Amino acid sequence: MTAYKLPPTDEKADYVLQQFNRIAKGYDLTNDAISLGMHRAWKHKAIKSLAIKPQGKYLDVCTGTGDLAMLMAKQPNFNGEITGLDFSPGMLAVAKERENQTRKTSTLLANLSWVEGNAETLPFADNYFDGAIISFGLRNLVDLQAGLNEMARVVKPGGKVINLDLGQPTTPLFTPLFFFFFDRIVPLIGLALQQDKQAYTYLPESRKKYPPPEKLTQMFKQAGMTDVQWQPLAIGSVAMHIGSAP
Ligand SMILES: C[S@@+](CC[C@H](N)C(=O)[O-])C[C@H]1O[C@@H](n2cnc3c(N)ncnc32)[C@H](O)[C@@H]1O
Repeated sequence: MTAYKLPPTDEKADYVLQQFNRIAKGYDLTNDAISLGMHRAWKHKAIKSLAIKPQGKYLDVCTGTGDLAMLMAKQPNFNGEITGLDFSPGMLAVAKERENQTRKTSTLLANLSWVEGNAETLPFADNYFDGAIISFGLRNLVDLQAGLNEMARVVKPGGKVINLDLGQPTTPLFTPLFFFFFDRIVPLIGLALQQDKQAYTYLPESRKKYPPPEKLTQMFKQAGMTDVQWQPLAIGSVAMHIGSAP
């Protein structure tokens, strides 16, 4: 068996795009399985940290199937504007279907829009949003710093920019278990639920190239953000960074 290799930088965007188009339909189920359902609680926490204003405008970068964008839109008394951006038409199609189904059964006041675009060159004016989140997306970009710079640019001064992504386990006892689950079990879950072992081998491999939380804090600051903080979630397997746009 040949060892899995991450794509070279100049092929990464295409590779990532094709992969997410391919797995879009079964993404939610697999995501629940891999995170043992915990991604929902992390997303609630991220939204709480965003301190949403009832009529604000918020951006979900790398929105995927739009679950986090929908959660924002469903905040009590919220009738502002939510934009979910992603470069995968396959993932956005699932997001739109989620919105249609939700609007059938509940009163959703928020104005939602789904934008096909690149997180590294956001198609929005400076200072347009009151806050922005990127959840399990940053790791997939070719130029992570460009993604952070763009979020800092489109969010109004003082508005929150939040990144939720993989961290580094903080408990020695848990560390080998985490790596075993991530490196060995996750690809098998991908194979079982999506018949796509490759996409779910990319996931643990992409973690290895992703900056540790301290380095990411520096990158937030390099994007001009202030009051940068981060906190470990799920014994460090996930990290949430928060900064204020300049
Ligand atoms: C792991 S999924 C995360 C989806 C969702 N935010 C969540 O938390 O479940 C990563 C998403 O990032 C998108 N993505 C990756 N690189 C991107 C880029 N350069 N611009 C826009 N979207 C991108 C993929 O298409 C995919 O939908």
